[in-house]
Amino acid sequence: MGRLQGKVALVTGTASNPGLGHATARRLAAEGAKLVTTDMDEAGAALCAAAIIEAGGEALSLRQDVVSADDWARVIGETESRFGRLDILVNNAGIHLTKSIDDTTPQEFQRQLDVNLVGTFLGVKTALPLMRASGAGSIVNLSSVAGTLGIQGLSAYAAAKGGVRTMTKTIAVENACHGIRCNSIHPGMIWTNMMMQAASSAEAVKDALMAAIPLGRMGEPDDIANAVLFLASDESRYITGIELYVDGGMWAQ
Ligand SMILES: NC(=O)c1ccc[n+]([C@@H]2O[C@H](COP(=O)([O-])OP(=O)(O)OC[C@H]3O[C@@H](n4cnc5c(N)ncnc54)[C@H](O)[C@@H]3O)[C@@H](O)[C@H]2O)c1
Repeated sequence: MGRLQGKVALVTGTASNPGLGHATARRLAAEGAKLVTTDMDEAGAALCAAAIIEAGGEALSLRQDVVSADDWARVIGETESRFGRLDILVNNAGIHLTKSIDDTTPQEFQRQLDVNLVGTFLGVKTALPLMRASGAGSIVNLSSVAGTLGIQGLSAYAAAKGGVRTMTKTIAVENACHGIRCNSIHPGMIWTNMMMQAASSAEAVKDALMAAIPLGRMGEPDDIANAVLFLASDESRYITGIELYVDGGMWAQ
């Protein structure tokens, strides 16, 4: 029996491949969860769902902009109609910006907050009533090492991911009485489309970060997917409000 047998999971940002949402959705499905895969890129989310179905799983894909409260209401409504419950929410969709604070425009700063922080807030807020209805649930929010460390060129991104980190702890405390856990995952440098773009736009920053990884290599999407799986499953039933670093040791230095 799979580690998530009988559970329903929603993962945002599942289109990008290689990407953390895509790898996570497929990993959770491989352990028996029924999946809702969403993304602004509707075709990409559908490809992720198709891969799950091809492997013998069950999945529903939906177009979603995580910044839109209306989209969240529709996605949670369709999740309830199709599966009747929601046990796991993974707020993964995100965008990245590598720019010094001098070069970052107010609009760019706001966009980082909107997608990375407000998108996560809306996801949790909209999903909670359905999770509370079954008296249990696990929420996993994707933060970053940049959510706690000062890293050159990441001020707007760090502001949003730092917000995700502390908001996660508040959500955990507020919802423990409902049997709902909430934890954040802090990836270091993981080889995805986001990281490829960030690396090509800032080679110097990439080299400095690579030198700062004690395990001496970038992570793979499955390194994150496995950590999400643990926090999503009942194996972590006594863990809430933590920040889990999956970063090859970057944060430990
Ligand atoms: N890759 C890394 O090294 C790394 C490190 C730290 C944190 N993270 C975080 O992990 C998460 C996933 O990162 P990734 O590397 O897989 O990124 P990615 O760019 O490869 O994938 C992100 C996905 O989010 C989707 N998306 C973007 N904006 C959206 C929106 N408004 N609504 C819905 N979907 C939207 C994109 O279409 C894409 O499919 C992000 O939150 C990112 O900040 C990644």
